[in-house]
Amino acid sequence: MAEPVTLRPDSEAPARSLALGDADKSLLRFLTCGSVDDGKSTLIGRLLLDSKRLFEDQIATLEKDSKKFGTVGDDMDLALLVDGLEAEREQGITIDVAYRFFATEKRKFIVADTPGHEQYTRNMATGASTADLAVLLIDARKGILSQTRRHATIASLLGIRHVVLAINKIDLVGYDRAVFDAIVAAFDADAGHYGFATRVAIPISARYGDNVSLHSEHMPWYRGPTLIEHLENVELSSGAAATKPLRFPVQWVNRPDLTFRGYAGTLAAGTVRPGDDVVVARSGQPARIERIVTLDGDLNQASAEDAVTLTLDREIDLSRGDILVPPGARPDVSDQFAAHVIWMAEEPMLPGRPYLMKIGTRTVGAAVTELKHRVEMDTLKPLAAKTLSLNDIGFANFSLAEPIAFDPYDDVRTTGAFILIDRFTNQTVAAGMIRFGLRRATNIHRQALTIDKAARSGAKSQKPAILWFTGLSGAGKSTIANLVEQKLHLAGRHTYLLDGDNVRHGLNRDLGFTDADRVENIRRVAETAKLFVDAGLIVLASFISPFRSERQLARDLVEEGEFVEIFVDTPLAVAEARDPKGLYRKAREGKIVNFTGIDSPYEAPEKAELRLEAGSASAEDLADRVIDYLSANGFIPR
Ligand code: ADX
Repeated sequence: MAEPVTLRPDSEAPARSLALGDADKSLLRFLTCGSVDDGKSTLIGRLLLDSKRLFEDQIATLEKDSKKFGTVGDDMDLALLVDGLEAEREQGITIDVAYRFFATEKRKFIVADTPGHEQYTRNMATGASTADLAVLLIDARKGILSQTRRHATIASLLGIRHVVLAINKIDLVGYDRAVFDAIVAAFDADAGHYGFATRVAIPISARYGDNVSLHSEHMPWYRGPTLIEHLENVELSSGAAATKPLRFPVQWVNRPDLTFRGYAGTLAAGTVRPGDDVVVARSGQPARIERIVTLDGDLNQASAEDAVTLTLDREIDLSRGDILVPPGARPDVSDQFAAHVIWMAEEPMLPGRPYLMKIGTRTVGAAVTELKHRVEMDTLKPLAAKTLSLNDIGFANFSLAEPIAFDPYDDVRTTGAFILIDRFTNQTVAAGMIRFGLRRATNIHRQALTIDKAARSGAKSQKPAILWFTGLSGAGKSTIANLVEQKLHLAGRHTYLLDGDNVRHGLNRDLGFTDADRVENIRRVAETAKLFVDAGLIVLASFISPFRSERQLARDLVEEGEFVEIFVDTPLAVAEARDPKGLYRKAREGKIVNFTGIDSPYEAPEKAELRLEAGSASAEDLADRVIDYLSANGFIPR
């Protein structure tokens, strides 16, 4: 589990108090990142203090802002993670990002203050998702750390175009220009990896205020802007989202009575006007915009970031999760794509494991089909990897349970970003940025076959099913499964038995016993069992299958009622005492690693259809209990 984190007071949510006197001033959203002792809090305190001293009067006018930003409200307008965070908040998990506001004569600022501990990548990604600029704090005594590279990489992956190297504690190295130059050179050696549009380096002392808002007397060699000056003047491509094609993800369908049907949501990109032609991204169904409804009356135009309710000139099939787009600029629609991911959970990413993917207002089942690489933070090189651990950044192919509409993240942040959620803990385990759809998804179609499952099982006069035996090694799964198959066979049933030890000699001979390999083992076996069910067979699968997620995956592959989970519940001590293959002894001696029950976990089923307490009866009796269950539940005739 990730560290428990808390949300700073809601009153600090950004959009609430944006007015700061002057609505015409441009707004810069930035975040500060640094390691624990780099002086981040000091710097933010300094910025607040200096701006306050200079513009006391304006601060006094902190108040709710009007139209332009009022729509983001409590949602914190976290373009990337917005829905995921909502989901987290509903679950009582929150994110430790504090937003602070200040203003100068020229600009308004929102700074996302994110904790610097390594495990807080999650918070940083959250803060970065709406930021225009990142201030990377670097301790002049320490220089560029791998944490600095991680922060810079995340910032660049999240689409931040401007970076400031705030080389802090310069007073502690005697205001030495050589130290400053060396750090800048070290950062620039990696600059190609990040591809920031601007990079400005400023030697500062947050503690004494040097080069924060006032030019320092101690560093005559530095001629550049102070931090505040730079933040005030850096050019933003603001409003860019409004110039893109319309993206309107439907958040909910508003149907107060029979006469009104509106679609509420926030424009992720583009503009919309009454009379515009639109289509539903996924289905291509056309419609025309009738009205743009808001609490303050109808609008004749809305653009990116505006929260509105749209009405259409006709009734179409449109619900939460759908996206309205222009007919001539539709997003990709695919069930496979490649994406960068920031892994945020203690539990590692396992390719093949089914997660939930939340993208915009839509949630679909998703799995990593191939982890292409992990970015090594000391060299920034892509390295081959089988898994991602906490804070790792990787590039992977994803496969989804159904096609979704999306844009590459760099085109539209909201429709190109997703989070992954663990199906059992409901925890957000990763944030992702889509890079491109995979062609093969659109080129491989399902072949319609004339003879189907019903025809095949009908010919065998039976109801196909998977009998999934799970339990520790030596629990008795295979013995019982073998007896059950004999009994079914004698009764004229058509069966097939898939057994862990056997399958691992053929189909899965390339797999070992790491978590990742077990996930892949079960994924392949589940797909195979599904094919046999389609062939009309009663399939017996006997695998330790230690993880709930993959047993659920197997269950989800077949139809409701076709999956019977049979938990062969033998206590570890009993299985170990039996030790039919001598493997427990070897595991205890350390000759086998990752042995289930010893140094690899077993997640017992919580709601198996059948639980067999091995040890309570003979294998023969337990096999009969399985047969009884099958006849009582209509799988085989009584
Ligand atoms: S699973 O975890 O991926 O489902 P599977 O059922 O295919 O495992 O294979 C388990 C069998 O492999 C065990 O019954 C045992 O004979 C053998 N085996 C060898 N090494 C291990 C290990 N480290 N952990 C568990 N089983 C192992």
